[in-house]
Amino acid sequence: MRLDDIRKKFLKYFKDQKHILVTSSSLIPQNDPTVLLTTAGMQQFKPYFTGERDSMIDFKTRRFASVQKCFRTSDINEVGDLDHLTFFEMLGNFSVGDYFKKEAIGYAWVFLTKEIKLGPERLWATYFNGQGRNSKRAKITSDKESLKFWQKFLPKNRICGFGEEANFWGPPGKTGPCGPCTEIHYDLTKKPCEKGEDCLPNCECGRFVEIWNLVLMQYEKTAEAEFVELPRKNIDTGMGLERLAMVINQKGNVFQTDAFSEIIKSIESDPRFGSTGNIAEDAKRLRIVADHFKGTVFLRADEVRFSNKEQGYILRRIFRRACDQYLHPGMDFQKVFQVIISQLKNAYPELAEKKFEIISDCEKEYLNYEKVRNLNISVLLKQLPAQGILSQIASPEGPSSIRITGQAAFQLFSTYGASIDQLKQKGFSFDEMEFEAEMEKHREVSRAGADSKFGGHGLNSAILTDEDRKKITRLHTATHLLQKALIETLGDSIQQEGSDISPERLRFDFKFPTKLTFAQIAKVETIVNEKIEQDLKVSFEEMAIDEALKSGALAFFKEKYPPKVKVYSIGDYSKEICAGPHVASTKELGYFKILSEKSVSAGIRRIKASLD
Ligand code: SER
Repeated sequence: MRLDDIRKKFLKYFKDQKHILVTSSSLIPQNDPTVLLTTAGMQQFKPYFTGERDSMIDFKTRRFASVQKCFRTSDINEVGDLDHLTFFEMLGNFSVGDYFKKEAIGYAWVFLTKEIKLGPERLWATYFNGQGRNSKRAKITSDKESLKFWQKFLPKNRICGFGEEANFWGPPGKTGPCGPCTEIHYDLTKKPCEKGEDCLPNCECGRFVEIWNLVLMQYEKTAEAEFVELPRKNIDTGMGLERLAMVINQKGNVFQTDAFSEIIKSIESDPRFGSTGNIAEDAKRLRIVADHFKGTVFLRADEVRFSNKEQGYILRRIFRRACDQYLHPGMDFQKVFQVIISQLKNAYPELAEKKFEIISDCEKEYLNYEKVRNLNISVLLKQLPAQGILSQIASPEGPSSIRITGQAAFQLFSTYGASIDQLKQKGFSFDEMEFEAEMEKHREVSRAGADSKFGGHGLNSAILTDEDRKKITRLHTATHLLQKALIETLGDSIQQEGSDISPERLRFDFKFPTKLTFAQIAKVETIVNEKIEQDLKVSFEEMAIDEALKSGALAFFKEKYPPKVKVYSIGDYSKEICAGPHVASTKELGYFKILSEKSVSAGIRRIKASLD
């Protein structure tokens, strides 16, 4: 079944159930300062859910359905694998104080099993079991009703209760409507993994794919992180169109569906895309280009302009990252854009209307970017202060590896707008923390730069609003507390493998052989929150690297440190080598919450966490 048919079937089904069909809202949220981009179908209905407006007056209905354009930046660095996308379409039905759990579950079941005829034996459901680590949510108890309604359709063993990390949704920004949720998962293989009985939806083995999230929206999260009851009980559902297409058509991943197959063919057919000779690497490059070009077309069609801040920076970042995947200059992005536009223009007429603007803007951006990429290394070297070059290892074709200071790297960045990745590709290596410290010092003046890192972490997304910077700084301090709490809980063998912070969340990778238990996660979270409550002062001292290591400061061994480093202390609790920046005291952090814990590769775990 093609995407067009799935969209039509979904809308028709909900129209027959007396829903008003609403067109997708723009990717730039209107009148909603809590989010940068539209990430869910519910966003355009927010004023109705909160009771600020009455949908009976505006639309004469309490039931809506839509296919919404969504763009999520939180996992942008993971795009390229088999299951992360930035841009996707979300099918959703919404009840504003009309029907609730029973009908929402019933509609979802009938649509999946009767309308699109998924095998009922492949479907599983999850519901909120009342377990929450966040005391502020403790009063929200187990959702026995959803369990009961699911029992009408599913055997008991295919209905599973999970805590708030899996079954409590939203809000997308800091504040807004949210609630427990019940999800439908599709069983791709029907075979348990080595965990046997424990292999349930949300298992990381790849057996299950979550297809539909039914949010039982009953609360509004306030700026004080309280959950207050909404005036009405609402339903907000969201189903990823690309994932649904994948299970309907029995494909292995979304890139094999018609959401991407033609786009990928047109990228592949451009000789300038080239081949690295490594099949897996080439497939990953294709997925990055396909996702990022699609995102580019949709963002620009919604009037996002290339720039160094906010939505414009996201557009610049994905477009440039897509360009980076072509091995030879002169890529034919227009041909790929034509495919994207002609495939999607019926569902999104703005693509055809803006076609020429989209292409001409991207053409200009491409030429600008080419200038940066084509900078000659010997020109760049001449720009460096004499003391900026630490060592140079020559190869017959010229210098192949040049170690420079972080300050010198920063100068190249601020003069030419070359990103860290480009500098690395050109053979420069440098201390990234030194670079970041420099960036921090020159933050205001360097706003015009193109790409940046921030805060001693691999955040490749800077050129941020001040608000975002504050969030990142808080998450950065929380990362230090997290590392120490992990050591306390799991033992001294814990070692940092990587870290990445976006305004929404921190991500921390570390070596550990097994999945963390619920109790271990709860303990880590409790420790971090206790330290936050104790309002510990954050301070730093500069010292020689040897001295810092001798003092017991934690270090990230993948990093090469300069002779002199900063050691940040959080009260007497944590001590870590880091370039900063950090908050002044831990009370500024708010409430720490682990969002997920999973494996990223053998022996490496990944925690994502946020601050409320
Ligand atoms: N808002 C929920 C989600 O984004 C359901 O639509 O998953």
